[in-house]
Amino acid sequence: MNPQIQAFFDAATGTVTYVVHDGRDCAIIDPVLDYDPRSGRTATTSADAVVAFVRDHGLTPVWLLETHAHADHLSAAPYLKQVLGGRIAIGSHIADVQQAFARVFPQAPGVRREFDHLIAPDEVLTIGTLQLQALHVPGHTPADLAYRIGDAVFVGDTLFMPDVGSARCDFPGGCAATLYRSVRRLLALPPATRLFMCHDYPPAGRPARWETTVAEQRAHNIHMHDGVTEQQFVEMRTRRDATLPMPVLILPAIQVNISAGQLPEAEANGVRYLKIPLDAF
Ligand SMILES: [Fe+2]
Repeated sequence: MNPQIQAFFDAATGTVTYVVHDGRDCAIIDPVLDYDPRSGRTATTSADAVVAFVRDHGLTPVWLLETHAHADHLSAAPYLKQVLGGRIAIGSHIADVQQAFARVFPQAPGVRREFDHLIAPDEVLTIGTLQLQALHVPGHTPADLAYRIGDAVFVGDTLFMPDVGSARCDFPGGCAATLYRSVRRLLALPPATRLFMCHDYPPAGRPARWETTVAEQRAHNIHMHDGVTEQQFVEMRTRRDATLPMPVLILPAIQVNISAGQLPEAEANGVRYLKIPLDAF
């Protein structure tokens, strides 16, 4: 059965949050907690738009899913769990990501305690009448999952829209050759499969878009159309990654997201603090 899909685009971080449903039960994929790095202020404006949609349509959230531990935004999964219910889940290889960052963020709580469920590669989850298959697509991070539901795949940070290309592979545990193989697996799906992006960073003059197909990606993706070899991709990706600055929110985001989006406890003065490691990256 094919799902109904509602997208929410966060222009501040280029992130797309999805509500995937069968008219009764739903999963929420990659919800965003607004965070202003200048003031240190969080807000739930983006998440509340999702809450309103879910309530307006009388949906019951079964799963709150992360495609991976994001480096560009904080997760709103704990907020949505508190307001709407549902179980927070991420790929089981999150333990590798947490280990990769343990040198800098040893205070991050244990993942098994924070996530309600760790999804094994190829595991099938149920969302009402829908079946979701988790596809392990490492490369951007070791724990990336894509979620296949009917004729739709939520690709996470693997491919971007055809004119933008692919996700970076230079974070701890990332690997361009691994990403190439993950993407070729996705592009081996039926050509009409609908692909939903995790992000869009539209070139000047193009409105944000997040839906494409396997056929369109195989014909037109600037980094990974048919005919690009693994070696060509790895060379391009490595060269390009060397020019990219760290994402603005990587330090706040990673320490929160490897703990399932849990914000730190308040200190004695009632204020919560994130930690900024100096000279560690
Ligand atoms: Fe990412």
